[in-house]
This record gives sequence, structure tokens and C-alpha cells, in this order.
Amino acid sequence: MKNIAIITGASSGIGKAFLKLIVQERGVYNSVPFDEIWAVARNSERLLEVTSSIGDERIVPVTADLTEAQDLNEISLSLEQGNIRVGLLVNCAGAGFKGPVSELTVDKVESELELNCVALGKLTRICLPCMIDSEPLYSLKDGPRIINIASSAGFLPQPGFAGYAASKAYVISFSRALAYELSRFNIAVTTICPGPVNTDFQNRATDGREAEFTGFRKYVVADADKLAEAGLKASRSGRKMLVYGFSQKLLHVASKILPVGLILKIESLLMPVEYRSEAGPESDIVSPLPITSEEESV
Ligand SMILES: NC(=O)c1ccc[n+]([C@@H]2O[C@H](COP(=O)([O-])OP(=O)(O)OC[C@H]3O[C@@H](n4cnc5c(N)ncnc54)[C@H](OP(=O)(O)O)[C@@H]3O)[C@@H](O)[C@H]2O)c1
Repeated sequence: MKNIAIITGASSGIGKAFLKLIVQERGVYNSVPFDEIWAVARNSERLLEVTSSIGDERIVPVTADLTEAQDLNEISLSLEQGNIRVGLLVNCAGAGFKGPVSELTVDKVESELELNCVALGKLTRICLPCMIDSEPLYSLKDGPRIINIASSAGFLPQPGFAGYAASKAYVISFSRALAYELSRFNIAVTTICPGPVNTDFQNRATDGREAEFTGFRKYVVADADKLAEAGLKASRSGRKMLVYGFSQKLLHVASKILPVGLILKIESLLMPVEYRSEAGPESDIVSPLPITSEEESV
């Protein structure tokens, strides 16, 4: 039986940083190294560039668009037919599109959710039969692992990045419940919530308008390699959640104790002028909508 790792979004940024580290991993922890490391992304040229620059013969480039049912089916078939055990799944592929929802194309609104939520859920489900042992062979400390890359954006609603923030709230909620469900099979699930990270993400999110983070975000940008290192360490020690960086930890606490209306107001002061809405956040605090009898009965 082959013991493999799967890393999505491995051609760039955080996924690439995980790939570089995982070639040094020992595999199912404390046992054999991975026989193969599947590096998944759409752009085959970039994927080949990255995998050949790392130069480990166990890396298998898998060109797949995870929002396409056909591509997910092919991965599923390869797993079924290959006598494979998935020791590690890193769900890292993700994307977001900045701008008010009314100004985004319908395709963008759809693809953000398809990739960040639907594909992550489907790929996880596809891999689980290759992770669950009827008689767990390993303890939770040494068993298979899932690492899901969420974002601190998932702590709060974010006007100007609404679909992305909501999609990451899904990743956080899904992963935490999954961690609970899978603990009986000794499979550890770690959710990682970084703030801004120095990758191609911002460039893609703004269609090339901003190659780098601007405003207050540029002061808290994290390094992708250091984030991947901390993420693997958290996974190895069985942590369920890693909120990465002091500023993001503060944000996490604030999101739990401040009213949403106040958070939206603070956000509106930090966001570009064109996204601001004079009526929005304030009206949320001052005059909440009356509850209808239908809502009361829920
Ligand atoms: N950078 C940040 O500031 C930041 C902060 C918090 C969370 N995150 C999260 O971290 C994860 C990685 O982002 P990153 O910063 O490393 O961004 P990135 O440099 O843009 O990398 C995104 C990766 O996802 C792949 N991908 C995109 N669409 C795909 C699809 N439909 N099917 C398969 N692969 C696809 C891309 O490759 P192809 O284009 O070749 O497919 C690429 O390898 C994402 O989930 C993101 O939401 C990023």
C-alpha cells in the first residue's frame, strides 16, 4: 500500500511552502516517509516549474481544476484504484475577489464558493475512505492528518470581500466539526487562520490592481514559509486551530466580544472610500430591524 500526501494549491504561495516542507516529512507520523506527494493545481506549467525546482522524485504533479466535477472524479478514481493510504491532506487551494458583490461578475461569486467551500468539502470526503482505518492503526498523535487553510477573514463579515469572508467562515465551521467527527478514527484536523500573507493572493484578488497589501494590512503581512512551518507543527501536535500572528489573535478575540454592527463600523473606517456605505453599519447599531413573528417562531 502506498502512503501519500495531497497538497492542493501547491503551485504557489502557502501551498508551495507546505510542499517544500512536506518533502522532508516522515509521513504517517513516526512511521515511513510518504511514497508519493500529490501536488494539485490548474496551471500545469507553473506546477511543473515548482515541482522540478524542489526536485524530489516522490512529487506527483496533478493538474486539476478542483471546481470541475470531472477533475475531482479523476482524483477519486486514482485513489480508489491505487491501493493508497492518504496520510496527509492539505486543503490549501483558495481564491477571493475583492469588490462589492454588486460589482463582481456572477462567475466570480460562484467560483469563490465552488473552490473555497464545495471543492474543499468534496475532496475531503473523497479522501476519507483512504484515511479511515476500521481498526485505527495509529494513535491521534501519530495518525493521518488534515490541514485546512481558512483565514482570519472568516471571523467577521467583510464588506468589499463578502463572499470570501463567508467562504472562510464555512471552512472554519466545517473543519471544527470534522475534527470532532474524525477524532474517533484518530485523524487530526487542524484549521489554520492567517491574516495577510506574502503570496500571489492579493494580486489575483484585485485582478492585478494591487500586487501587494495596502493600508494597515501591509504592516501585518506574514511570511508563507514561516506560516507553513507553524501550520505543520500545529498539525503534528494535534492542535485543532492555529490563528497565526499576534494581530490576528487580537482580531479573533475582538470578533468574539464586539457586536457585529460595531465591527462593521470599524471596518468601514479602514476600507477604501469607494466601498463605504453611509447607511450600513450605523443603522445596524442604532436601529435594528424589528423581528417578525416568523423569525420569533424559529
Ligand atoms: N495570501 C493571503 O493573504 C491569505 C490569507 C489568508 C488565507 N489565505 C488562504 O491561503 C490559501 C492559499 O492562498 P495563497 O495565498 O497561497 O494564494 P495563491 O498564491 O494565489 O495560491 C493559490 C493556489 O490555489 C490554486 N488554485 C486556484 N484555483 C484553483 C482551482 N480552481 N483548482 C485547483 N487549484 C486552484 C492556484 O494554482 P492554479 O492557479 O494553477 O490553479 C495556487 O496554487 C487560500 O485558501 C487562501 O484563501 C491566503
